Amino acid sequence: MSEAILLVGGRGTRLRPLTVNTPKPMLPVAGVPFTAHQIARAKAAGVTRIVLSTSYRAEVFSEYFGDGSSHGVELVYVTEDSPLGTGGAIRHASAQLRSGPDDPVLIFNGDVLSGVDIAGLVRQWREADADVALYLTRVEDPRAFGLVPTDDSGRVIAFLEKPTRPEEIVTDQINAGCYVFKRSVIDSIPAGRVVSVERETFPQLLEGGATLIGVVDPAYWLDLGTPAAFVEGSRDIVSGRIPSPALPGTPGRCLLLPGARVSRDAIVAGGSVIGDGSVVEAFATVDGSVVFDGATIGVGASIVGSIVGAGATIGAQTRLRGAVVGDGAVIGAENEFLDGARVWSEAHIADCTVRYSSDQE
Ligand code: GTP
Repeated sequence: MSEAILLVGGRGTRLRPLTVNTPKPMLPVAGVPFTAHQIARAKAAGVTRIVLSTSYRAEVFSEYFGDGSSHGVELVYVTEDSPLGTGGAIRHASAQLRSGPDDPVLIFNGDVLSGVDIAGLVRQWREADADVALYLTRVEDPRAFGLVPTDDSGRVIAFLEKPTRPEEIVTDQINAGCYVFKRSVIDSIPAGRVVSVERETFPQLLEGGATLIGVVDPAYWLDLGTPAAFVEGSRDIVSGRIPSPALPGTPGRCLLLPGARVSRDAIVAGGSVIGDGSVVEAFATVDGSVVFDGATIGVGASIVGSIVGAGATIGAQTRLRGAVVGDGAVIGAENEFLDGARVWSEAHIADCTVRYSSDQE
């Protein structure tokens, strides 16, 4: 087993403002860009060559990963001039594949954190002589996802993308964003235009009689597309709930990157990460949060379930709960940002001016 395509060209709008400067898959999760975790997991499953399918801010990937040799895989890059969607991106990346027509090619969404048995997925694809094998996961509320019902033998019966009508909620199995394609099937996707693999390619393959199988894997699964999921994923890697070979350190209650300075009178816990060059001052609390590089958390500040962008400053006694603070923002003392509040990059907020929530004490 050898080749994979990693889709990393999305704009990551749900994680703004953090994705204004940095593509979503390059945001640091548990101390390293999320893509580094994915490459490490793919490598551990036997993948030796990865085509990185980029579009938005493509250069950020090649500057960090180079030819992949320091990560133990061969990396090649393809870039779309304008985003081609998931299916168009897979087709575009195929120009760089070396696999033969009947070989398996793994495809990974660039924002899914998962413990799926990658080698097992390929094995099942082979055993079923399938055109495509899809990794499926079960969720409590599938409405925001692509539903993929299967029959008793595991063959896919339908694709129901983000269904709205109750009668369409026929299963709790959803498309988990990792596939094995027969190489020749990739080459059958139309070239040079926008294609959605979920809305167009899969339904058309099904209609045309192709063999698509769904493999339900109960392993850990999380789509890191929202701020809440992003901090959860980072926490789970730091704590070891989902092991990653790319974690820079050993699992524990927090991860302090080299150059982080934490006052002995501060508390950092709940799987938090403190980035390189960041400072956590006395009596501050950082719990279940991600603090990027070069940020300052002031005296007595309280940061819970939040993301603090690179170089941002959080003033003394300021509280963040479920908030996102963009790169370089400066928040003065004694402000309060709760429940999904976002502070734009480079914003300046004076002392004692913002209290974003009415239902707190
Ligand atoms: P949101 O804007 O927040 O929805 O995020 P997103 O742009 O990443 O979209 P989404 O989460 O639906 O994308 C799923 C995966 O496909 C992600 O890993 C994206 O990086 C990737 N992706 C989405 N669209 C494209 C595209 O046009 N080209 C490439 N190369 N990758 C894409």
